[in-house]
Amino acid sequence: MLIANISPRSMGKTTDTGFMAHALHEAGYTVRAWDADESQHLTQWAEAAGGFPFPVSQNATATFATDMDPLKNGIDIVDVGHTENHPHIADSVLKVADLAILHMEPSMADWQRVTKPRTSTAVKEIVARSAFARPGREAPPLWVLFNRVRSGVKSAREIRDLMSEEGWNLFTVMIPMWDEIKQATAFPVERAAHGPFGELVTEMETKGLIKNG
Ligand SMILES: Nc1ncnc2c1ncn2[C@@H]1O[C@H](COP(=O)(O)OP(=O)(O)O)[C@@H](O)[C@H]1O
Ligand SMILES: [Mg+2]
Repeated sequence: MLIANISPRSMGKTTDTGFMAHALHEAGYTVRAWDADESQHLTQWAEAAGGFPFPVSQNATATFATDMDPLKNGIDIVDVGHTENHPHIADSVLKVADLAILHMEPSMADWQRVTKPRTSTAVKEIVARSAFARPGREAPPLWVLFNRVRSGVKSAREIRDLMSEEGWNLFTVMIPMWDEIKQATAFPVERAAHGPFGELVTEMETKGLIKNG
């Protein structure tokens, strides 16, 4: 199966993707990560870490979907370039995605970037339009993962409630604002499954969103 990690702008995709991939690997899944961002941030992280314990491939093109064969017995996890600047890459990845995860901070600023971008296509619309390019004519499920969450901040609760009323699927697990994570993309990842990303894997399993194939 294939997981597409998406967001407009810089909203924590690469960090979340790297940790999720490690947590899935530690949980026993066969993982292959894809860097589908021209900035190659995930690739640089893997190099700085002396390699990840699973392959990291690159394909930041509009032909992603036809260039690759999704793993039959594992999870392809893709760090997609910003949907705002590279919608053609997102369109291609979403053609073959089984699950799309939108990464954002629970702030009014990120909510506006997601739902009311001034000059680009809203993320929900990009996911919805992928239906036309997919064999079953149905878009992949879209789930929201909140990251950089500060405890006790009122706006986080408000954005959750607002998006829930708007009908978004929100993961219960949230990734906290974490000082060490700010530097994480320069170092190897250890024990990713022993924290929020491990809890996220469990939540995805419980919800039937992931499978080894
Ligand atoms: N949970 C977190 N806590 C603190 N800082 C974070 C967290 N997740 C990401 N960041 C920081 O936020 C910025 C954007 O993250 P990044 O993963 O590069 O986003 P994107 O891939 O969407 O551009 C980076 O400076 C990163 O270190
Ligand atoms: Mg990135």
